[in-house]
Amino acid sequence: MLKTKLNERNIPAVWDKAEPWKKRREDIINLLLKEEYGFMPKTHTDISFETVMEDSSFCAGKALLRKTNINLFFGEDKYTFPVYCALPNIEGKCPFIVHINFRSDFPDRYMPAEEIVDRGWGVLMFNYEDVTFDDYHKDGDKDLYTLLYKDKEIKEDSAGKIMIWAYAASRVLDYALTLPMVDPENIAVAGHSRLGKTALLAGALDERFKFVYSNDSGCSGAAIARMNKGETVKLITRDETFKYWFCENYLKYRDNEENMPFDQHFLLAASAPRYVYVASAKKDLWADPENEFLSCLAAGEVWEKLGLKGFVTDDKLPETADNLHEGFIGYHIREGSHYLSREDWQRFLDFADSKIK
Ligand code: GCU
Repeated sequence: MLKTKLNERNIPAVWDKAEPWKKRREDIINLLLKEEYGFMPKTHTDISFETVMEDSSFCAGKALLRKTNINLFFGEDKYTFPVYCALPNIEGKCPFIVHINFRSDFPDRYMPAEEIVDRGWGVLMFNYEDVTFDDYHKDGDKDLYTLLYKDKEIKEDSAGKIMIWAYAASRVLDYALTLPMVDPENIAVAGHSRLGKTALLAGALDERFKFVYSNDSGCSGAAIARMNKGETVKLITRDETFKYWFCENYLKYRDNEENMPFDQHFLLAASAPRYVYVASAKKDLWADPENEFLSCLAAGEVWEKLGLKGFVTDDKLPETADNLHEGFIGYHIREGSHYLSREDWQRFLDFADSKIK
C-alpha cells in the first residue's frame, strides 16, 4: 500500500545499474551537496588533539571520561572545539559511536552514557554549537562558519550549517581513530532531529562510519520530501526558521519538490553498502514517520541491487514493538513524541550488535 504512494509521486530511482555503484554514489553525493547541503568552502590544512581532562572513576569506574580539544588549522587560522568521550574499561577494542549532540552535558538526556558503556560501546560526543552556532552569525570569534567564510564568497552551493556539523563529525572520527581501544571497523555516527539530518549526511560522506543512525530526522533528513506532509522544504527554509542549515540552491524547491532531481532516500542510499538506521516516534508528525519509513523502502533497492538485503519489511508501518532489523537498513517506530530516548539507543544498539556478531 505504501509502495503505491512512492509510485504515485514519481519518486526518482537511485540507481539503474548502468554504471558501477561507486561512481553513482559519488554523483549522488555531488547532487545532494550542490542542491541541498552545500560544499565546504575550504578544508583544514592540519589537525591536532589535546586532552585536557581525564576521570577514570566515571560510571563507578567502569569507564574513562575524557575531554579533548580538537584543533583545526586553516593555513594561519586555528579553530578549536572540545569532544567528550567515555571509553569502557574492557580488554581489547570496542565499537564506538560519534554522537552529534545539542549540549555538552555528559551524560545528557539524549545520551545515556552509562547504558551505552554497559553494552560495551564507547561514545564520543560533541556539542554542535561548539562548532558553529545554530543561528545566523552570532559570535565571530567562536564560530567555525565565520572563520570558513571570512575570505570566501557565499555562493548558491556553499555549505550551510548542517554540512559544517557533518564535517566536524568526521574530524571527531579522525580523533577516535587515534585511540588504540577503538575498533576502526565498527564506528557509528548518531544524531537526533536536526542532528539526525547531520548524522545522515556525515555517514553518507564518510565511509569510515559503518553505522549511520538518524533519530526523528524528518524533513531534509530521512523523510521523503515529495509527500508534502509534516514539515516541508518551504517551511524549513523560511528566513525565520532554518534557511541557514542549507545552501541557497535548496530554496528552489520550496513548493516545488516534484522537480527535485533527488529525494531524501538518496541521502540514505549514499551510505550503501554500509548500515543505515532510521528511528521514528509515533506522535512526531512534524518529522513524519510514514515518510521516514517510505524513504527506507525507496532506498532499499540499492542494497538489493548490490545483492544484499536492503529494507526487510511488509508494505506497512510496523507496530511500535517491532524491530525491522533484518537487512542493511534498520528501522523502528516507538510510542511517544520527538525525543532521543534510552529505548531508541537500546534498539539501535541491538541492530548494530546483531550486525557485528
Ligand atoms: C524543528 C525543525 C526540524 C528539526 C527540529 C529539531 O522542529 O523544524 O526540522 O528536526 O527542530 O532539530 O529538533
